[in-house]
Amino acid sequence: MNALLILVMGRIAGVTAAETRQRLLRAAADVFAERGYDGTRVADIAAAAGVSNGALYAHFASKADLLAGALRAHGRNLLADMFAADPEQPVVELLLLVGRSLARRRDARGYLIVEALVAARRDEDVARPMREYIGERADWLAELIRLAQAGGELDPALSPDAVAHFCLLLAMGSALVPPDLHAIGEEDWAALLTRVAGALTRTDTTAQRGINAVKVHIDPECCQGHGRCYDLAPGLFGDDEEGYGQVLGDGVVPPGLADQARRAVANCPERAIDLLEET
Ligand code: F3S
Repeated sequence: MNALLILVMGRIAGVTAAETRQRLLRAAADVFAERGYDGTRVADIAAAAGVSNGALYAHFASKADLLAGALRAHGRNLLADMFAADPEQPVVELLLLVGRSLARRRDARGYLIVEALVAARRDEDVARPMREYIGERADWLAELIRLAQAGGELDPALSPDAVAHFCLLLAMGSALVPPDLHAIGEEDWAALLTRVAGALTRTDTTAQRGINAVKVHIDPECCQGHGRCYDLAPGLFGDDEEGYGQVLGDGVVPPGLADQARRAVANCPERAIDLLEET
């Protein structure tokens, strides 16, 4: 560390306390992700952040506090990031986009949650802040589900807390069983998620019209591989090896994805996509 940097009251001279805290959280996320919770010493984090142990303890009471703080600041929370980037996007679309990404490999920090869950099983000092952290995530998610219910996207009869819990279990489970430990293809996973989303959405509008299901269909003779369908409606369409559009699963459109389906139909330059109503 530069000798001119003098530690003053738990921070580096010329750096605000907030910046020092951020520096510590970044270092903690990197070191925990690389060495695991048990393999990390507080001194390792202080050294990686370029501060003294004393400066670290001015910000965080313990290694467990650092872990929970690192998770909040740098753990993977794709759903919150995507919602912040586009709050107008339908919630079911967001959930499906995030759900599809669960089948893919994440960067090292994406596995911080695994370190935290394992440590929480063994150490009550970690379990306490982890309970708070998971509670915060669940509450935020339940609010999002309530929003979707109020907007008619999701069945209002479902418990928002139970749906939020289900989503959290999927997200955390996917960190415990990464892609190199299973052989489920992305397309199969996406098709299953679309079906699950369909079960969570309300169906009364179509039922009132005597329609059992609305399906999307691509005419393979017309498709030229423009790709707008799977860009605009990733919950309903994927692509084959040559980039031609493909319907995911059986093509049934959950009510929450009706907007996606309409956008895909309207934007296919070849008019290759049909919406079929089954009565
Ligand atoms: Fe094909 Fe139209 Fe999609 S051309 S790839 S169906 S946008």
